[in-house]
Amino acid sequence: MFMNKTNTAFPENFIWGAATAAYQIEGAWDADGKGLSIWDVFCMRPGKIDGGQTGKIACDHYHRWKEDVKLMAELGLKSYRFSISWPRVLPEGRGGVNEKGLSFYEGLVEALLENGIQPLPTLFHWDLPHELYCRGGWLNRDIAGWFAEYAALMAARLGDRVSTWCTINEIGNIGGLGHHLGIHAPGLSLGSLDYFRLAHHLNLAHGFGMAALRSNSKLRARIGQAANVNVCIPKSDSAAAIETARIETFAFNPANPCWSPHLWNEPLFTGTYSEEIHAHFGNALSVVKEGDMAAISAPMDYFGWNYYQDWNQPHQCAGEPVSMIKWKVQPEGLYWGTKFFYERYKLPVQILENGLASMDWITVERTVPDVMRIDFIKRHLIELHRAISEGIDVEAYYYWSLFDNMEWSAAYTMRFGLIHVDYPTQTRTPKQSFDWYRNVIRSNGASLTA
Ligand code: GCO
Repeated sequence: MFMNKTNTAFPENFIWGAATAAYQIEGAWDADGKGLSIWDVFCMRPGKIDGGQTGKIACDHYHRWKEDVKLMAELGLKSYRFSISWPRVLPEGRGGVNEKGLSFYEGLVEALLENGIQPLPTLFHWDLPHELYCRGGWLNRDIAGWFAEYAALMAARLGDRVSTWCTINEIGNIGGLGHHLGIHAPGLSLGSLDYFRLAHHLNLAHGFGMAALRSNSKLRARIGQAANVNVCIPKSDSAAAIETARIETFAFNPANPCWSPHLWNEPLFTGTYSEEIHAHFGNALSVVKEGDMAAISAPMDYFGWNYYQDWNQPHQCAGEPVSMIKWKVQPEGLYWGTKFFYERYKLPVQILENGLASMDWITVERTVPDVMRIDFIKRHLIELHRAISEGIDVEAYYYWSLFDNMEWSAAYTMRFGLIHVDYPTQTRTPKQSFDWYRNVIRSNGASLTA
């Protein structure tokens, strides 16, 4: 067809989404019986968070969710990815259920469905109940069972209305940022024996959690996780460069074992830890028990991943495009990652996060002209469409984030949202990108090149 080259229509039923996470938006840190999370505690530690900030209030979404769902409906979202705060529903991590916390999520899911928005809950986006941390957290093997109990509870309460789930967000960063660099909660720097134990327990929690979701959901649960695997972008379009990038994407790099795909991702598909992992972590692997690998590698329904940049490539030159968080703008990585992961893991792909940090403000005219965000999303969606046009099964794209929010240790020093949040007044102002994304959704992608 004549227009084929520039036709960016996406597949029918493509899932246009936006994402958030509980600690980053909810606030209400001690409301209605919620327990403490490790992020509540981490933020109390001097020097850990930019400006001594916290997520105590954040976007106050816990109290403003009705207004927020209206904005999502206005945007025309097909799906909303949010996370459930484990200590809000189980204040001690297990045992006594906090009904008020649970009904918050039930109300949210109801309201989303009433507005034709599919909910995509993430069970764990980093806010571990502090009580469980005190019992050893991810270093205690029992945590896999605790996580499964929590997953079973959520499936029992929401599994008649929620069909797609994400178990754990960025398992590699829970390790790398939280337990190696110590710049995220709980702020640890583990040695390699402990580090492998932590990795295995996270993988096990994913496996047990998946089984619990499946057996306690009324609807057929479609389950994945949000991986932060590093994708290497080929240095040129030559077949050799592409092959090198593919190999590097899945390789074990002994200089950087903490984020290795051999720890976090490959075992979910191969059902085993690689030779490189055995060689590097040695005796630590004695924590792997019979049956563990089968649970870990139970089939997922989609491959979910978060893409921001190629972390291997050094910064190139003075003045290159970077975002407020100093990440490079590399849209082609979205194409290559989607291709590599689809070819290797053979699952439909969902982009669960992709977004730009900037420092937007409201102009005198009361608009937020975030043209760079528009350009950023456009470039990434064009790359995603390239993958789709080559026959790759891509189901979803979730922009990170729906709102400006609490960017972990960087707190409120940057803004990722389609909606501007004025924190002192909690006023929401849709940015220019909000209107632009709404048109993309309405036209199912065709407006990208119109
Ligand atoms: C992550 C998390 C998000 C972040 C976003 C921007 O990737 O770190 O999933 O919670 O806010 O990625 O850093």
